[in-house]
Amino acid sequence: MMYAAIMGYGTIGTGVAEILEKSRERIARSAGQEICLKYVLDLREFPDSPVADRVIHDFKVIEEDEQVRLVVETMGGLNPAYPFVKACLSAGKHVVTSNKALVAAYGTELLKIAREKGVNFFFEASVGGGIPIIRTLYRCLMGEKIQEISGILNGTTNYILTKMDREGVSFEQALKEAQELGYAEKNPEADVEGHDTCRKIAILTAMATGMEVDYQDINTEGITAITDMDFRYARKMGTSVKLLGTSRIEDGKVCARVVPTMISKDHPLYGVSGVYNGILVKSDQLGDSMYYGSGAGKLPTASAVVADLIEAAQNENRNVPIGWGAERPEMIDSKISECRYFVRIAGAAEEKAEMVRGILGEVQTLVLEDVDEFGILTKKMAEIEFIQRAVKLDSECQKKGEYGILQLIRAELED
Ligand code: HSE
Repeated sequence: MMYAAIMGYGTIGTGVAEILEKSRERIARSAGQEICLKYVLDLREFPDSPVADRVIHDFKVIEEDEQVRLVVETMGGLNPAYPFVKACLSAGKHVVTSNKALVAAYGTELLKIAREKGVNFFFEASVGGGIPIIRTLYRCLMGEKIQEISGILNGTTNYILTKMDREGVSFEQALKEAQELGYAEKNPEADVEGHDTCRKIAILTAMATGMEVDYQDINTEGITAITDMDFRYARKMGTSVKLLGTSRIEDGKVCARVVPTMISKDHPLYGVSGVYNGILVKSDQLGDSMYYGSGAGKLPTASAVVADLIEAAQNENRNVPIGWGAERPEMIDSKISECRYFVRIAGAAEEKAEMVRGILGEVQTLVLEDVDEFGILTKKMAEIEFIQRAVKLDSECQKKGEYGILQLIRAELED
């Protein structure tokens, strides 16, 4: 029998306790021994819950109890998650977490301590909720050279964008509904500004390269500037807009970014809608493979935590070599990467067509009824080149006392 403790009895912690109880026998068969929940650490009391008799408020109880070999961290945030996890690993306990902020910020150090202590630090639930993507990278694709990872990694933003696309509602309306349904946090900044996706693509890139990736090196834009008008054009073109975290890996160099991206119906991630997540991996022998499922939520995320607990129990006395070391890959500025650009410009298409072509080159023009603006799709070019041309276009419009560019969205569409 192995004793476990859960730190943080919120949505995911509750789910873990629930699965440990209801699937006790199956888990024992897989783990080779029973996993028994001894403590639940939280600031609150839970008098009516099935774990009421195991609730504690002092972390030291877990740290100092040698019987506890498995610790689940589902508190979220960095403080006190980081010092608590570090102390547990240092005390020779296995730690399993769903906390992407913790893994992205301190993963390198925590993995090192786990190796030195011969225990495990697992974090399957930190990316893609219940989707098995971390284990897929270190086990199933271990013989593959990963060339690109591209993912819809945040359920809240995907829910918002899907709603804007299908129902024509504004960003604000869709966000309000996501909050009412409990998908988005009250303060939704980490989701809608792309920070959550940024940390997740950093973790996946570190897994794929075996090197530390600083999430602060990843150019990140959120979805707050995406409007219902953008989706009117997107629908007309048979495309949609998704928040993609993308990482291209070549010769140990990484080019990563998080940006709202226009994709067509042919794109494998086009059909990933609502709160679902999807991750597309390109690797040298297998080619494209895609992983899809519930990227958030109590039981899907708890399921990934429990799988990690079982793997830790199976490897009670050894460190499973996963993760990355302190070496960093060269990070390439994502502004050199090439794609097409969807641009909305103020005014009438016929009046500005010549000037637009003169500056942006050959473009596809898109016109909607009843609006004093038009859209264009450029040919493929590097972002750095596009920005120079866009600045010129804007200043030409300003010279005439007119508005210029109203919106721009990167488009991963064939020329
Ligand atoms: N806020 C995250 C999301 C939760 O919406 O995907 C799962 O990491």
